[in-house]
Amino acid sequence: MKIHILTLFPEMIEKGFQSSIIGKAAQKEILSLHGVDIRDYSLDKHNKVDDYPYGGGAGMLLQAEPVFNAWQSVTGGRAVRTIYLTPQGTPFTQSMAEELAGEEELVFLCGHYEGIDRRVLEETVTDYVSIGDYVLTGGELPAMVMIDAVARLIPGVLGNESSAEEESFFNDLLEYPQYTRPEVWHNKKVPEILLSGDHRKIAQWRLEKSRRLTEKVRPDLYEKYERKQRLTDRLLKDKRNYIHMIESLRRGRAEIIWWEGEDILLYDRSCKLCMITAASKESGRLMLAYAPKETESFVTSQVFLNEMLCGSGGSDMGDEGESYGGYEIHCECYQLVYTQKVPLPVKHKDIRQLTMEHLDYVGSRYSYDGREYVEARIREGVMYGAFVENAPVGFAGMHNEGSLGLLYVEEAYRRQGIAVSLESYIINRTLEKGWTPYGQVIVGNEESFALQEKLGLYRSDRTVWWLEKIKQKGQA
Ligand code: ADE
Repeated sequence: MKIHILTLFPEMIEKGFQSSIIGKAAQKEILSLHGVDIRDYSLDKHNKVDDYPYGGGAGMLLQAEPVFNAWQSVTGGRAVRTIYLTPQGTPFTQSMAEELAGEEELVFLCGHYEGIDRRVLEETVTDYVSIGDYVLTGGELPAMVMIDAVARLIPGVLGNESSAEEESFFNDLLEYPQYTRPEVWHNKKVPEILLSGDHRKIAQWRLEKSRRLTEKVRPDLYEKYERKQRLTDRLLKDKRNYIHMIESLRRGRAEIIWWEGEDILLYDRSCKLCMITAASKESGRLMLAYAPKETESFVTSQVFLNEMLCGSGGSDMGDEGESYGGYEIHCECYQLVYTQKVPLPVKHKDIRQLTMEHLDYVGSRYSYDGREYVEARIREGVMYGAFVENAPVGFAGMHNEGSLGLLYVEEAYRRQGIAVSLESYIINRTLEKGWTPYGQVIVGNEESFALQEKLGLYRSDRTVWWLEKIKQKGQA
């Protein structure tokens, strides 16, 4: 990821990150941090960049032209996500960090003095963000806070991949208390359960501690957590048909946008995906009005929703004549769920996580979702290859939203149990995380159904549809 910071104090950002984990990631070229001095773009011979506000008032404002020229110097006028740090912005959250972590390039604009001329903000800024209800002297510290929170989610930045998954704010709960050696300190003993070696009990104890702590200090978060729990319990009554929603909630990905009885709209911000099920056309239409505008994909559970989203509903759109069109059907799938808790045997012994050196191999064999998509999966560390004599002969992985898939085995190595081994391996990894493995198989792909059913996955009785936003000509 490329990060540009437009500021009057570039050295503050550069020095600030130098010795940190983020600075190390920059050295390893996992991300680039580029400070741009707005003063270098001053039109004034004294390098002046500020002036008095029209209409009077305290303090000075940054002028539009130097800010605009600094922004132009990095974007060349391209539509790059540009974040202006301001106490008047949307509060920064973990889910915003997750969404921004998916961008290739970000620009942070740091204000100083009393702010920046409004007109240049209107021409450059895509997001106005605040890091809290207090006022700082400038946007540099807020930008650093945001960069730290975003960068640590980029695969490879944190040494231990799992640590980003278990911490505070994952699944709306605060983190449980942690202990290290010595076992007794100031007469305080480490809780017995943590020394027991019983991982299931330890996980239960930690969850309970997290819940109690969150309930006490963050009742707002706890309410959100409880609501998700209630919805998950309800969906579990029809597990196979709603496994996509269940797992998205459980894995801490989905937000509830709407839930009233059988009408449910969830949003996974990090893959810009809405999952929707509606009891009637009327409630479906109502819910769609609440779907985030930036939604790239929908998973729908009813055909009438597809008609609305594809804009072919015509009179169906109601009196207001509103159409939610702009999407097209990508595929229709059954869902398959691995309902047991026991890991599967993996016969093929050489299965390894794939790295960027395998991108060409995977990209040339799996074209369904495009090369960029495959690249992102490898970066995330969720693609696995089966190897024979050190050469890959097949692969499988986990999709963006968490279902199993991206399966391929070389012609010459088919019917030797490699696909079964690859999928079993990924099922086991998923179980280790405490999740329920599931997949989605396109209607008619009998070969894949046979494989899933052989592995013990159960098929849903209804289908879901994937819809994708229709790209305008020229858009990537
Ligand atoms: N600039 C000054 N105070 C700020 C805050 N709380 N959040 C973001 N930017 C700021």
